[in-house]
Amino acid sequence: MTSPSGERSLVLIKPDAVRRGLVGEIIGRFERKGLAVDAMVLRSMDAALADQHYADHVEKAFYPPLKDFMTSGPLVALVLSGDEVIEVVRGMLGATDGRKAAAGTIRGDLSLSNRENLVHASDSPESAKRELQLWFPELV
Ligand code: CMP
Repeated sequence: MTSPSGERSLVLIKPDAVRRGLVGEIIGRFERKGLAVDAMVLRSMDAALADQHYADHVEKAFYPPLKDFMTSGPLVALVLSGDEVIEVVRGMLGATDGRKAAAGTIRGDLSLSNRENLVHASDSPESAKRELQLWFPELV
């Protein structure tokens, strides 16, 4: 998955971030890093999309509350592009658990939760391809 400026990543600014008014703060960090916003939409995730998006996690014990959380309100879906964007964005997010994420990262600075950790981002070129197809089929 490439664009004129390089690789692409699928990013979800989760319902906790929308409720807390952190959308601008989070997108601002990506913009200041030099990444490009290629597409963006405010929408909700329904149960079927949650099961598809988190296909690798549906059997895990943490999945039912994760699904409830991710379908609890609107989220912002983004396509970001830039040099090595997948790895760069994962570094900017920090560790999954906001209580353990390093200061300076989005989760380290703004989250105290393992579940309500503000942002999802593709973790590999393979997951980026799959997730972009799911969320922005018109771009693929
Ligand atoms: P995300 O990057 O969206 O990928 C899977 C999500 O599951 C993760 O962020 C967290 O929101 C959630 N998650 C992962 N591990 C746990 C866990 N142990 N307990 C609760 N939620 C988790």
